[in-house]
Amino acid sequence: MCGIVGYVGPREAPPILVSGLRKLEYRGYDSAGLATISDHHVEVRRSVGKLDNLDAMLREQPLNGTPGVGHTRWATHGRPSEQNAHPHRAGKVVVIHNGIIENFLELRHALAKRGRSMASETDTEVISHLIDEFVAQGCGLAEATRRAIAELEGSFAIVVLSESEPDRLVAAKNATPIVLGLGDGENFVASDIPAMLEHTRRVVFLEDGEVAEVTADRALITTFDGTPVERQPKVVAWDAVTAQKGGYKHFLLKEIHEQPQAIIDTMRGRILQEEGGVQLDIEVTDNLPADIKRCVLVACGTAWHACLVGKFLIERLAGIPCEVDYGSEFRYRDPVLGPGTLLIVVSQSGETADTLAAVEAGRERGAPVLAVCNVVDSSIARRAGGVLYTHAGPEISVASTKAFTTQLTALYLLGLSLGRQRGVVDADRGRQLLSDLVAIPALVKEALGREKLIERVAKKYGQAQDFLYLGRGINYPVALEGALKLKEISYIHAEGYPAGEMKHGPIALINEEMPVVVLIPHDAVFEKTLSNLKEVEARGGRIIVVTDAKTADLEEVAWEVLEVPATNELLTPILLTLPLQLMAYHVAVYRGTDVDQPRNLAKSVTVE
Ligand code: BG6
Repeated sequence: MCGIVGYVGPREAPPILVSGLRKLEYRGYDSAGLATISDHHVEVRRSVGKLDNLDAMLREQPLNGTPGVGHTRWATHGRPSEQNAHPHRAGKVVVIHNGIIENFLELRHALAKRGRSMASETDTEVISHLIDEFVAQGCGLAEATRRAIAELEGSFAIVVLSESEPDRLVAAKNATPIVLGLGDGENFVASDIPAMLEHTRRVVFLEDGEVAEVTADRALITTFDGTPVERQPKVVAWDAVTAQKGGYKHFLLKEIHEQPQAIIDTMRGRILQEEGGVQLDIEVTDNLPADIKRCVLVACGTAWHACLVGKFLIERLAGIPCEVDYGSEFRYRDPVLGPGTLLIVVSQSGETADTLAAVEAGRERGAPVLAVCNVVDSSIARRAGGVLYTHAGPEISVASTKAFTTQLTALYLLGLSLGRQRGVVDADRGRQLLSDLVAIPALVKEALGREKLIERVAKKYGQAQDFLYLGRGINYPVALEGALKLKEISYIHAEGYPAGEMKHGPIALINEEMPVVVLIPHDAVFEKTLSNLKEVEARGGRIIVVTDAKTADLEEVAWEVLEVPATNELLTPILLTLPLQLMAYHVAVYRGTDVDQPRNLAKSVTVE
C-alpha cells in the first residue's frame, strides 16, 4: 500500500508533491521519490527510507519543474533501496505505482527478449518499459498507457509522466484506489484524499478499468478500451486527520475494514485454482526443505495466536507434527531442532526482538527458517532463509487486526501447499479448499457489515470488569485473540480458555457479572461446546455467542448471538475473529481509552 501523488498546473510541483506525500506516509515509508518535467526533460530524485531523506536530498540537489509525480513506497517486490524506489523510468516515460503486478516475471522475460534491461527488482518497472515502447511506436501517452495495461495482470494504480507530452499526467486504476482532485487551473492525482485536501475538496474517484488523462484545465476519463466516461466531482468535508484514517475515527477501525482487501492481496498470485494447488513465492519454495519431519512455530502477541491456528492448519492439511512457542520462551529453552525441523516464525513488523532471537537460535542449530512477515526486508525477513509475505499493507494501530487475518491466510496457503506436495491433499480437495478461501473476502465484508449489532452489545457489556472467552479446537486461539484485543485497548481483564478446560478451574470465576464470549461454529465439536455453554449458563454467566448459524439451541442459552457467515472449518478462525475485533474496539471507544496507541504498548517491541 504505497502513497502516490501527481500535480499538473502552473506552480512548481516538488513542494506540492512533498507535502502531499507527507500526508500519505502512513501508507508506506520504505523509500520515496519524485519526478518532474524540467526544461522539457524528466528529472528524477529518489531516496531510501523516510520522506525526510528525500527532503534532505532535494536541499542538496534541488528539483523544479511541473507537472510532477511523487511516491512513498511500501515494499512488496524488491527490498527497500534507492534502486527499487519509484518513480521508475524507461526512455521518456516515468511511472509510479501502487499494487502488485502478478505476471511481472513473464513481462520481464519478454521485454528482455526485445532488448530492454531492468534497473530494479520491482514489478513496477515493466510498466514504464511497456508504455515507453508504445510511445516510441507513435502512440499518444493515454493510448500507450491503455495498450500497456492490457498486458498487465494484478492490481495497479499508476500515474505516468512523459517527455513526449509534458503538459499532462495519465492515471489508471485496477483494484487499488486513485482519486483526482480538481483545482482552479490546476489538477491533482493521488492514492488518497489527504494528499490534496489543502488544495481542493472537489474530487473524482476513478473506478476499476478506468484511465484519466489530466492536464491543468481538464481531466478526461475513459475505460481501458477508450470509451469516454462522464463523472461528477464530489465535495469532501473531511479534515486532514480524518482523511488519513479514510474517514474512520481510528486507524484500528480502518484496518479492521481493510481486511477484505488485505486478504485478497495476500492470496493474489498464489492460487492455482485449476490444479487445486498453491504457487508460493520463490523466496519460500527455494528455502523449504524437501523432507519436513516437524514444524516449530514461534512468535509473540497476536502473531503467536496465528501460530496456534497455523499448527492446526499444517497438521490437518499436510500431516506434519507442529509445536508452538513464545519467542521469549523459545530462545532460552535450548530447543531441539535440526535439519528435518522447519522453524516458522511469524511477525507483522519483522522487528520483534524475541522472535528475531528465535530466528538466530534456529540458524545456530542449522534448522531451515521460514518467516511469515508483513514488512518487506525487515530484520526477521532478512535473517530467515525464506519469507512468505502477508500483504496487509502498513498496520498503524498498535493492536494487530488485518495482520492477524492475513497471517491466517498465509498459513492456510502454506499448509495447503505442503499438503499438495506430500499428497495429503488431492487436486479435488485442493480446488474445494481454494474456492472456500477465494470466497472469504466477501464473507469478511458481510460479517463486518453487522457492526451496528456488535456496537450495541459492546456498549451493553462494556462496564464489566472481567471477560472470559471460550473456544475449542482451531478456534481456541481465536478465544485467546479476542481476550487479548479487549485487554490491549480497553484495559479490561480478559482470559481466553479452551472451552472444555473451563470446568477444571476458571468456571469458579463465573457469576452474573461475568460476560462469557463463546465461539461455537457448527463444526465437529459443536455439541461438546454446547454442553460447555450450558455449564456457564448454570452458573449465571452472561453468554455472548459467536457462531455461524443462529440455531434455536444457541438462542435458548445465549444473552446475545453474533453471527458470521459459514465457511469450511479451517477458515472459521478468520470470520469468528471479526466480531471480537469490533467488540473490543467499541468497548474501548465506549470506555474512552486511546484506541490506536493504548498505554504501555508498542507496535513492535525491539528490545528483549
Ligand atoms: C506487540 C504488538 O508489541 O507485538 C502486538 O502490540 C503484536 O500487536 C506483537 O502482536 C508482536 O508483533 P509482531 O510485529 O512481531 O507481529
